Formats: sequence, structure tokens, C-alpha cells
Amino acid sequence: MNSAKALRSLYKSSPYSQTPLCDFLLPSFTQVTSRRDYASITTSSESPKTEPAPEALKSETTAKRRRPLTKEQQQFLDSALRVNQAGELAAVLIYRHQTPPITRSHPHLRPLMHHMYSQEAGHFSTFNALLAKHRIRPTAMYPVWTAAASTLGWVTGLMGREAAMACTEAVETEIGGHYNGQVRVLLSWLKEMEEKGEEVGEELRELVDTLKRIRDEELEHLDEAVGEGAKEARPYELLNRAIRSGCKGAIWISERV
Ligand SMILES: [Fe+2]
Ligand SMILES: [Fe+2]
Repeated sequence: MNSAKALRSLYKSSPYSQTPLCDFLLPSFTQVTSRRDYASITTSSESPKTEPAPEALKSETTAKRRRPLTKEQQQFLDSALRVNQAGELAAVLIYRHQTPPITRSHPHLRPLMHHMYSQEAGHFSTFNALLAKHRIRPTAMYPVWTAAASTLGWVTGLMGREAAMACTEAVETEIGGHYNGQVRVLLSWLKEMEEKGEEVGEELRELVDTLKRIRDEELEHLDEAVGEGAKEARPYELLNRAIRSGCKGAIWISERV
């Protein structure tokens, strides 16, 4: 059995095999690729293969120029999408482990927990697809974040409703701010491209819209958590500071490795 097959069978027998990550992740770990293709983000058509007619030449001079992303922009996107995928993995695992104890003791929270979990699973699928499409490797810390997020969800779930909600509030505060920062950077690129008369690719616009939508959903989770007693957790300050510091550290590390 080669190493890819061995990893796949090991993964399928693990408790995480139901997380919608395995099909995507294993090829990424076992196929080392260096080429990342963002060309479609800013270029959407091929150059004409035949000599253009004079009318076409005239319209070409008035058409907006297209240019690929710079190396720095590509690196920013690599890093941003890698962190986002890791963050969404963590969110899925936190909710998965919190849900059983919380809904057992507070059945009225079942729809809310299900709603938040479903949205996180959707976010995770989105970033899995983007990483696969642009051939970005997941963070090397993936197994560590898997264990840490599962433990955090399990512990705060056992501590009770308020602690689970305080966890959501802390995580979403950091993640909402993180997505906001990415949206600001991408909007500054769009503005610069438009000012220079360059064409903005449809894919880049779609990415901005996706990040805005996900940010808004994270901030909704934050509001729901506060409404469900996050601030009544004991010890609230300690939980809030510890979890937010953990998120900041995880983001910092995942951006780099
Ligand atoms: Fe999310
Ligand atoms: Fe969330």
C-alpha cells in the first residue's frame, strides 16, 4: 500500500472521517504542488490568435487592461485562504463537540446550534474548494488545530450553555475582525485596479462578496451567543481572554506554516 492509500485508510477509520474535510485534505497532503494559479482571478479571456481588424484595434485601446495579481497579492491570498480554512475547520469541530451536551440540557438551543453548525460547515466547504482550486496547501498545524478545537468545544460544552456561548462570542469576535481585515485589503486592490483603469476579474469580486457574507454570518453568531448568555459565563473574563488569545495565536501561526 502506498503512503497516500495508507493515509486515506487511516483517516477513514478515524473519528474525524465524518468531517467533510477528508476527501479534500488527503490529496493536498500527498500531492506536493508548487504551482498556484490565480490567473483566472484577474484574466478571463485569451489573447486574440489572429490579426485584429482595425475596428477591433480601436476598441482594444479603449478596453480596460487585464493583469495578473502580483506575487505579493498571491502570497496574501495563499495565506488568507489557508487561515480561513483552518478557522472554519475549528468552528465546525467546536460546534460539533458542544452540541450534544448543550442541546441535552437546553433543548430550545437545538435549532440555533444546528443553524450555526450548518453555516460553519458551509464556510468550511467554501474554503476547501478554494484551496483545492488554487492549489494552496492547508496549514501544517491542521492536526494540532483539530485536536485543540475539539477539546475547546468539548470542555466549554461540558461547562454549560453560558461557557459555550462565551466561547462562540470570543471566537467570532476574532474571526469577524479577521475577515473584515481581508475584505478591507481586497477592496483596496479593487479600488487601485479601477483607478488604474485595469479590469477587475469576476472571480476577485466574487471572493470579496464571499468573504463579506461569511463575515456577516460570523457576526450573527456572535450576536446570538451574547443573546444566549455568553456574558453570564463564569469566569467570563478568563474564558474570553484565553480563547481570544488562542485564536490570535492560531491565526498568526497558520498564516506562516
Ligand atoms: Fe465560519
Ligand atoms: Fe461562526
